[in-house]
Formats: sequence, structure tokens, C-alpha cells
Amino acid sequence: MERERLLLLGVAVALSACWFGSLASAQMIHPGELKALKAIRNNLGDPLKHLRNWKKSDPCTSNWTGVICTQILDDGYLHIQELRLLNKNLTGTLAPELGVLTHVTYLDFMWNNISGSIPKEIGNMTSLQLLLLSGNNISGPLPDELGSLPNITKFQLDLNQISGPLPSSFANLLTVQHFHMNNNSISGQIPPELSKLPKLKHFLLDNNNLSGHLPPQLHMMRSLTILQLDNNKFEGTEIPPTYSNMSRLVKLSLRNCNLTGAIPDFSTIQSLLYLDLSLNYLSGSIPTNKLSSSITTIDLSHNQLTGTIPSNFSGFTQLQKLSLRDNFLSGDVPTNIWQNITFKATSTLNLEFQNNALTNVVGSLNPPPNVTIRLQGNPVCRRENELGIVTYCAPEDGSADAPANYTFLNSSNCPSQHCPGYFEHVPDAPDPCYCAAPLGVGVRLRSPSIYDFRPYADEFRSYVTSNLGLEPYQLVIDSFIWQKGPRLLMFLKLYPEIGNYSGEFSASEVQRLVSDFATFTIIGNDTFGPYDLRNFTLGYYQPDVNLPMSSGMSKGVLAAIVLGSISSAGVTGLAIAFLFYRRHPRNRNQGSRTKSASKLSMKVEGIKEFSFADLEKATSSFDITAQIGQGGYGKVYKGVLGDSTVVAIKRAQQGSLQGQQEFFTEIEFLSRLHHRNLVALVGYCDEESEQMLVYEFMPNGSLQNVLSDRYRSPLSFAVRLSIALGSAKGILYLHTEADPPIIHRDIKANNILIDSRFNAKVADFGISRLAPLPNTDGYVTAHISTNVKGTPGYVDPEYFLTHKLTEKSDVYSLGIVFLELLTGMQPISHGRNIVREVLQACQSGSMFSIIDRSMGPYPSECIKKFMALALKCCEDQTKARPTMLEVVRELENISSMLPETDTIASESEPSISGTGGSASQPLYARRSPYTSTDLIGSDLVSGVIPKISPR
Ligand SMILES: *[C@@H]1O[C@H](CO)[C@@H](O)[C@H](O)[C@H]1NC(C)=O
Ligand SMILES: *[C@@H]1O[C@H](CO)[C@@H](O)[C@H](O)[C@H]1NC(C)=O
Ligand SMILES: *[C@@H]1O[C@H](CO)[C@@H](O)[C@H](O)[C@H]1NC(C)=O
Ligand SMILES: *[C@@H]1O[C@H](CO)[C@@H](O)[C@H](O)[C@H]1NC(C)=O
Ligand SMILES: *[C@@H]1O[C@H](CO)[C@@H](O)[C@H](O)[C@H]1NC(C)=O
Repeated sequence: MERERLLLLGVAVALSACWFGSLASAQMIHPGELKALKAIRNNLGDPLKHLRNWKKSDPCTSNWTGVICTQILDDGYLHIQELRLLNKNLTGTLAPELGVLTHVTYLDFMWNNISGSIPKEIGNMTSLQLLLLSGNNISGPLPDELGSLPNITKFQLDLNQISGPLPSSFANLLTVQHFHMNNNSISGQIPPELSKLPKLKHFLLDNNNLSGHLPPQLHMMRSLTILQLDNNKFEGTEIPPTYSNMSRLVKLSLRNCNLTGAIPDFSTIQSLLYLDLSLNYLSGSIPTNKLSSSITTIDLSHNQLTGTIPSNFSGFTQLQKLSLRDNFLSGDVPTNIWQNITFKATSTLNLEFQNNALTNVVGSLNPPPNVTIRLQGNPVCRRENELGIVTYCAPEDGSADAPANYTFLNSSNCPSQHCPGYFEHVPDAPDPCYCAAPLGVGVRLRSPSIYDFRPYADEFRSYVTSNLGLEPYQLVIDSFIWQKGPRLLMFLKLYPEIGNYSGEFSASEVQRLVSDFATFTIIGNDTFGPYDLRNFTLGYYQPDVNLPMSSGMSKGVLAAIVLGSISSAGVTGLAIAFLFYRRHPRNRNQGSRTKSASKLSMKVEGIKEFSFADLEKATSSFDITAQIGQGGYGKVYKGVLGDSTVVAIKRAQQGSLQGQQEFFTEIEFLSRLHHRNLVALVGYCDEESEQMLVYEFMPNGSLQNVLSDRYRSPLSFAVRLSIALGSAKGILYLHTEADPPIIHRDIKANNILIDSRFNAKVADFGISRLAPLPNTDGYVTAHISTNVKGTPGYVDPEYFLTHKLTEKSDVYSLGIVFLELLTGMQPISHGRNIVREVLQACQSGSMFSIIDRSMGPYPSECIKKFMALALKCCEDQTKARPTMLEVVRELENISSMLPETDTIASESEPSISGTGGSASQPLYARRSPYTSTDLIGSDLVSGVIPKISPR
């Protein structure tokens, strides 16, 4: 009966080892992608550490400064799918390593300060759909390789210094919908091959150095809605008449393109809303066929047009601007253009006819107040008194094109009610005096088809809010400014729902809105065209030191704000949240160490700051009986905190004390390391010239204790294997995911601690950084070299010889620990080295004779594999050793070979080698290290799927 039970427990251990094995490998970031991520990390903090919060249900983490989305693919690795770093003040160049990210669909580095050229390796990111690099300092040519992106839909590269020609390889981009390459220095001829692009909707190449001619074939782009080529230097070419076949065109802008010839008949394009052919050398007369009746803007100014203004320029119900100024037009000033237009209060119509040869007005010129006509510089103005058109001939008071300062649309407020702090009135709310804290959103329309925004403000509002699932009153267009292009930059405010009486958005709502804007959920429409997100400032939610938490601002919202805020680069949930000077004269005199009265004090979020008194109390004034160890850093005490939590306290000895700033840097660094196989830092104390680190307490002590304690239950093979795997995973995390990576340097059985469930946790990582010159207890600095650190028996021989420290030094030391686990021997005893002993035994074919007998029976195949791995780790040559990742893999592999259920276990029993003991012994050690209470809480038995935790 008792035996059966023990058997089951043993199986449970083996199973749970498998479980964690598969979980952890499922979570493992693909090694190549890991490298790429490291190459691109910048002044942003480390994306990697944030991936540890990865959850299947929530594949995008935005704890990081940016947003990173991942997915487990068939190969079992975690692959990066989206990388979004909008407006983060990034510098540096684009790393060629990005090419490795072949599963990324969405790459957004817009509005940073990235320089250098676009690496051709981007062409290897074959899943890429959105390549968004606008608003950087990227130079150099567009690599031909970009033409091999099979699924790209959007190139947004505008506002850079990209030069060289448009590669004709782009003709292969059969899925591309958006070429936003305006405001660069792209030169040469537009490749006529591009006309084959079946899906291209937006072709924005304005403000470049293009030359040559306009390819007549472009009309074959059957999806094209925006063609914008302004401010290029085409060589006196005509507008191809074929362009009148672009039946879906909404916006055609060819301003200042050195175009000659006649204006084609665009009346065939019934979708056309915006036509700008100004500042060219166009001649002939204006085609008399009527343009689309919904057109908003017609600009034919600054050309050499002759003839008269067509009499059918009327019935354009949406018209905002008709400019024919600075041509050679003659005849009558039209008086019917505004007929059929129903003007709203905010609508305007500008008719610019200046500097032509118009001679007469037929009838009376008597437009409604919304219409402005300019006629100066025409012969008709010499007859002004006669015709009563004085006002239309007055000198201009500034060009309508010149962007004024920001225009404020909404000034309604509610003077009767006082809104607290960063709250303000929701201008159009059903309850007119409703106060709320808005989110600020900067949005820029890249190519609107309108000339005056005001008449369209309402339409814009309902268009945006309906896409966001908000009510129209929740969006206020605070201000807007026209920029060169013309583009329209707007500042929007989003207000929480009126039913929400706290006047604020929830964290998830903030997340959703950021994401909806950032992922182009708001589809560009014909009138407003494509947009980009300039910022999401959350201005009023900006946390600061004096933020009154009591006034209704929830912590959840604050957290969300830190994530979304553009000014939060580098600030992460665990990073230093608030930094300020505290001037507390400390008058306590206890201890002889003195300290300046004022000090820089910071809080490190996620861990506790303890007072000296707290820890003094926890350890009975650092009584000798509380001391449980001593290391290079100082003494280690067991302490019991006020809430009865048991902790281990490392107290820096005098020589190990750090400068305040350094200490905090280290603490901040250590606090970011989280892994189930690392001993967790709980807090710290920095007071009274004391620096202490507080860790979780490991009741079973170190692996060395456990292995050497003859009175304790011996460890079964399964437990030893799981300790090996746990240690390897902890170290792997230090090697690959800490930023900067950590080489432990002092892996030994004494630094692998064992918790109450016999999980291994690596200790003392990063401490070497805190203790510049450790020289006590096992450290051999004096004997070897001031540079080489480590413990005799564990030190990598190659490191010993060359002083060149690599991750493989930890692999070596861990290999020694594995040998200890297998044999129960000490690394060095009586002058005999464990590696040599084991090698000799193996070579003489008596490997099983040195296996620790106390572990009971074991599957011999597993032992062989484990032994082979351990010896491989202990190879003299660095190169011959496996990487820590390979070690983890192999241990997982061995774990998976362990019998999985008791049925299987008993079936396989005959094959189990009896070398280590008699075949009649139970499968697992007779005296299990587990007690039933340990087991009840264990992940496996409780039936709860273990939370995915970092490797
Ligand atoms: C951007 O970074 C530069 C230095 O790299 C710094 O001077 C500047 O203040 C930063 N701007 C913002 C808005 O953070
Ligand atoms: C792109 O990937 C292919 C293999 O898929 C490789 O041969 C080539 O070298 C890669 N190109 C670049 C520029 O990285
Ligand atoms: C491209 O998209 C198609 C359809 O969505 C998909 O089946 C294919 O796997 C994608 N190709 C790549 C390289 O991602
Ligand atoms: C316009 O085109 C003509 C050729 O027709 C060329 O001589 C002239 O330099 C061009 N003008 C500009 C400003 O590029
Ligand atoms: C990251 O965000 C998740 C929820 O999205 C949260 O549970 C976790 O605590 C956050 N981590 C940090 C380091 O802020």
C-alpha cells in the first residue's frame, strides 16, 4: 500500500518534469529571432523580458515600450508576429538581422530617428504585410529585394531621405495596396511595369526627384484611388490622356510637375473628388465636359490655359475650391458656380480667378456670404465701379493656401461648473456640464480630398467614432493644421462614455483605442484618405509625483497610460517609476557608519524597500544564530518579516558597499530578472550605510546540503533530473534574456537552492556585479588571478587559461553539478577531480559503478544520456561544449523518456537496469523527499495548469 503510493508520487514528479519541459519549450523564442530582437533593441529597454508575460490568450504584450505580438508555431517556438514601435525616439540603423523575422507581418517604426539605409534583408521578411517607416532619417536606395515580399500590402516610407530609383522589381508586389513614399529623394523614371500592380490603391510619390515622363500605362492600375506626384521634375511631359480611364480615382495631384500639353477630359472619372494640376505649363482650354458632381477641389492655377471658363462649372454640390488664377483665361466671370450648393454655416467656397484676362460679368455678381471670389488682376476690375464688384477686386489678404496656425474648432465650455485637475468639459456631451479626462490623439490625414476641413468636421467625427464604436460626442476635434502636401494634422480628444461617472477610460478601453488607431482599424475613406497616427499622448493621464490617486484616477488607468504614453520610453512596469530627491535628515545614530543627510532615493517597483529596522527585527539584530551563510558579498541571514514571511537577507560587508546610484542600478537590474528557476529578489534595504538584498527563503537549502545530508531522504533520479533541468533553465534565462546578459561565473552545488517542492533555483546571479572583489569563502581570486573568479573544481579550464569568460564557462560548471547529481561525489576530494574519475570509469566500461547508489533504481538509458551530456558540458574545449539551450533541450528529451504513468512504468520495469541496486527495489527511491503536503500544492496534482512562467 505504502509502496504503491510512493510509486505514484514518483510518477507525478516525472510527469511534472515533462510538463514543464514542454511548456518551457513551447515558450522558447526562436533562437534566430532572439538574436534579431537583441540586435534591434535600442534605447527602449529589452523587449525580451516582456515576452515572459506571454499568454496564449493575449499574444500581444504592450508592457514593453512598444507592442510585440508572438505566436507559437508548429516548430514549437515562439515567433514574433508584430513589432510596433511608433514614436519612441529610436535612433540607430535598421539591423540586417530583421531579415530573420520571417513571421513578422507588421513592422512599425514610424516617427523615430532611425538613420542608415533599408537593409536588403528586409526582403527576406516574407510574411510582411505592413512596412511602416515614415518619419525617420532613412537614406540610401530602396533595395530591389523589397520587390520579393509576397504578401506586402502597405509600404509607408514617407518623410525620409530615401534616394535612388523606384525598383522595377516592385512590379512583382501583386498584393501591395499602398505606396506611401512621398517626401523623399527618390529619382529616375517611374517604372511603367508598376502599372501591372492590380491592387495598388494609393500611389503617393509627391515631393521626390522623379524625372522622365509620366507612364501612360499607369491607368491600368485598376484599383488606384490616389495618384499624387506633386513636386517632381518630370521633363516637360504631357498628362497621358489615358489617365481619364482611371475610373476609381478619387484624388489626382500633379502640382508643380513641369507638365505641358492639354488637360485631358477627366469627366469620365465620376469618383474624382480632388484635382490639382496647378503650377505646370498646361495650355489649351479647360475641357467643357463636366467633372464629377461631388468634386470638392479643382486647382488649375498657375498654368497657361486659354479660352473661357466653361459655362457648365456649376452644380458641384460639394465644391470648396476652384482656382483658375494666373492663367490666360478670358471672357466672362461665371455667376452660376454656386447654384445648387446648399451651404451649411461652416461651408465655404473659394473661387480664385486672379490674374487672368476676364473682362466681363454677365448679370450681377451676388454670391451668398459663404462664397469668396477673387478677381484682382483681371481687366474686369477696371470696370469695377460700373459692375459693383469692388470687394472682389481688393488686394488679397493672404493666400488661402498658406497654413495658418492651428484652428480651434471647439470653444464650448461650461463656465458654471468647475472640473477638477486634469478633467475638462466634454463639449458636446448630452449632459452639457459633464467633466472627464480625455485621451489626446494626434492623427494626420496624408492625402485628404478636401481643401477646407471645417464643413467636413461633422462627417469626420461620425466616420471616426463609428469605426471606433464610440458615440459622436465622445470625439472632439480639438484643433487642426494644414501642412505641406496638403496634409491635415489634427489633434483629437476622446472622452469616456457619459455613463461612466468616474469620468475616465478603463485601462482596457485605453488599450483598445490605441490599438484601433495603430492598427488602421479606421479604414481610410475617400474624402479623408489614408491617415497615420502621430501620437497617443494621454496628456491628462500623465502620472506625476503629485498625482492625487484619490481623485478617481485608478491605478489600472495609470498603468495603461504608462504603456501607451509616448513620453514613457524606458519606463516599464518594473522600472523605476518615480524618481525624486528626498531630503530626510537621518538622525539615528545606530551603527558607526555615517552617511550624508540627504540622499538620492528611488523606488524600484515590484520589490519592497525595507527599513534597516525592519530587517534588524527580522534577524534579532543580525544575531549569529540567524546567520545561514557567508559569501563574497557578505553574510547571509535567515529573517522572519512582520507578516511571518521567511526571507534570506544578504547584508553587504563594508568592502562590498556600492555607491547609491550603482546600488540602485543593480537593484533595478536584478528586480527585472524573473524566472521560476531563479531565486527571487523580494526587496532591498538602503539605509544607515547598509545595503541589503532580501530574497525568498529556500527551506531545503542548497543542492550541496541536499546531496551531502546523509540523514535526509535521498533524491530519486527523476528529482535529480528535474533539478538539473531547472538549474539549466535558470541559467539559460540569464544567458539569453537578461539585459545585459549575465554569465553567472560561479555555478556550483552551493549556489543551486532547493525549494520546498524540490524545484531548483539558481542563486547569486548578478552578485558578482555587486561584489567587485570577492575574496572569502571559496572564492579563489588570490590563488589564480585577480581576474578569474569561481570555485575550485567548478572553474572552466579554458577560462582559467585564457581569462576569456563566455557562457560556456557556466556550461562547464553546470556539467560539474550534473556529475555530482549523478555520482554524489564532490568536485574535488582528496586531490581527485570528478571529471577525471568519471571519465576513467566510463572508459573502463564501469560507468554504473560510480552512479550514486542512494538514488535507487533508474532507467539506464536516461542515465547514459544524462552522463554523456554532463561529460560533454565538461569538455576542455569551449567549442566542444553544448550551449545552455542545447543542454535544456537534451534534458527535456531525457525527461520525456522517463516512464509517464505507473502502467508504463511497471511495463518497462524489466528493462530498467539493476546495475545500481537489486532489481527488486522499487522504481523510485524508497524514501521520497516529498511529503503529502508538498504534493497537494504542486502544480500537477492540484490539477491547475501551471501559469506559464519564464524559462
Ligand atoms: C530623443 O532622444 C534624444 C537623444 O537621443 C533626446 O535628446 C531627446 O530629448 C529625446 N526626445 C524625446 C521626445 O524623448
Ligand atoms: C534570404 O533567405 C535566403 C534563404 O531563405 C538566403 O539564402 C539569403 O541569403 C537571404 N538573404 C538575405 C539578404 O539575408
Ligand atoms: C501570404 O498570404 C497567404 C494568404 O493569406 C498565406 O497563405 C501565405 O502563407 C502567406 N505567405 C507568407 C510567406 O506569409
Ligand atoms: C521642364 O522640362 C523641360 C524639358 O521639356 C526641361 O528643359 C526643364 O529643365 C524642366 N524644368 C524643370 C524645372 O525641371
Ligand atoms: C504586463 O502586463 C500584464 C497584463 O497585460 C500584467 O499582468 C503584468 O503584470 C505586466 N507586467 C509588467 C512587468 O508590468
